[in-house]
Amino acid sequence: MPEVQPYPERVKICCLGAGYVGGPTMTVIAKFCPDIKVTVCDLNEKRIAAWNSDSLPIYEPGLKEVVDESRGRNLFFSTDIDAAIRDSTIIFVSVNTPTKKSGVGAGEAADLTYWELAARQIAAVCNASDDKSPKIIVEKSTVPVKTADAMAQVMAASCLSTNLQVLSNPEFLAEGTAMDDLFRPDRVLVGGAQTPQGLAAIDYLCKVYRRWVPTEQVLTMNLWSAELSKLTANAFLAQRISSINSVSSLCEATGANVAEVAHAIGVDTRIGPKFLKASVGFGGSCFQKDILNLVYICRSFGLPEVAQYWHQVILMNDHQKNRFAKKIVSSMFNTVSGKKIAILGFAFKKDTGDTRETPAIDVCKALLQERAQLSIFDPEVSREQITVELGQEEMELVETPGDVNASCAGAHALAIITEWDVFKSLDYQRIYESMSKPAFIFDGRNMLDHDKLEEMGFKVFTIGKGKKQPDIDDS
Ligand SMILES: NC(=O)c1ccc[n+]([C@@H]2O[C@H](COP(=O)([O-])OP(=O)(O)OC[C@H]3O[C@@H](n4cnc5c(N)ncnc54)[C@H](O)[C@@H]3O)[C@@H](O)[C@H]2O)c1
Repeated sequence: MPEVQPYPERVKICCLGAGYVGGPTMTVIAKFCPDIKVTVCDLNEKRIAAWNSDSLPIYEPGLKEVVDESRGRNLFFSTDIDAAIRDSTIIFVSVNTPTKKSGVGAGEAADLTYWELAARQIAAVCNASDDKSPKIIVEKSTVPVKTADAMAQVMAASCLSTNLQVLSNPEFLAEGTAMDDLFRPDRVLVGGAQTPQGLAAIDYLCKVYRRWVPTEQVLTMNLWSAELSKLTANAFLAQRISSINSVSSLCEATGANVAEVAHAIGVDTRIGPKFLKASVGFGGSCFQKDILNLVYICRSFGLPEVAQYWHQVILMNDHQKNRFAKKIVSSMFNTVSGKKIAILGFAFKKDTGDTRETPAIDVCKALLQERAQLSIFDPEVSREQITVELGQEEMELVETPGDVNASCAGAHALAIITEWDVFKSLDYQRIYESMSKPAFIFDGRNMLDHDKLEEMGFKVFTIGKGKKQPDIDDS
């Protein structure tokens, strides 16, 4: 049996990638392990400067307090990636893995450019260093099955002198609840090579998590099971949303109410109540990307039926976003040209400023195609960010007054896209009075009191509520 090279007693950690995952995850490790030095690095100097300031680069409830507690004590943010790699035994890689835009697998496969560059940089630094103690590379990014294997080969080929073990430790946090998810995860997965050195590496990383996560929730497995578990978890979650959204159209057609149906099926303990809320569709940087990735992998392994099955989850989501935009146009007498529509919420969900793959993009673009004038308000998304998502040309017909009442004033319609709590407590009576009539509300999150809004005079359109929708000719 080959000898196992021991890992140092004093753990030191760094993370490549200071984004939505790397930043919060390392902050929580630093909180629960005050004796462990944790350095978070990024190529992006602006992002690191923001992590070192009072204005963090991402919005996440509770994050600032925990950063303030540990930053400068055992939590550091730096652009000196080489130094951090040299100084650490555990190196997390939490870089972006977007969908490929060109080449083989474009539009589906994960782009591993950033991951491979990070792997090569780690190998180069280890090669050049006199310290030959073993290191553990932790794949935190979501990657296709067998990536760890490929990366281990890349690193082994360019760095013969240091023992580099690659572990898969996918992250399950959800933006908006990241801190709670990290404090009390349902589980932590650690996959690694089932060799003596691989098992020693798994144990070394698990000991860090066991400082605050109960042992039975720290699951160990082989590398590929861990990688596949992450893609599968996201595919199952997104599938539930697409499933209930598919039923929402049927509810509208039949007179059923999707909230009642979701409640009735969710109390069945075999199904459970979570992720059963019908809406304008899911967004975010992960669901679509990870399912497309799964689809690509299935196809590559000669499983076209399995690929098609999962692809339908994406198609249903696209359908739901388009359906919502079409409903706005058809309800407003088949034209929105020149009409002001207030878009309430642009982030892909509440409590985050993240706009990647947000359904707001599809809805806004469809309305802009119809020449509507949009007034967009989101408490955490800047005009600059909206411009990045919609494109400079589209912004000609978009205003962003930065005040929700100003967005609504004079509008013909309000469209709720993000379920921000603040939208529940707006003074809708006052808003109604300030709007053009008939005044429409399209509640893409089914979050408002529709009966009350109708009493005020609004024409209310919801998702999946099959009661007779107001007849616009009666107004
Ligand atoms: N956002 C989520 O909710 C979430 C949840 C679970 C898993 N994930 C996965 O985690 C990974 C990271 O996601 P994210 O949302 O944090 O991405 P992100 O885009 O917010 O952050 C990635 C960061 O990595 C940096 N980077 C790229 N190459 C680098 C390198 N070689 N060295 C140092 N830094 C480098 C980028 O500059 C960027 O700041 C992705 O694979 C994603 O699928 C994301």
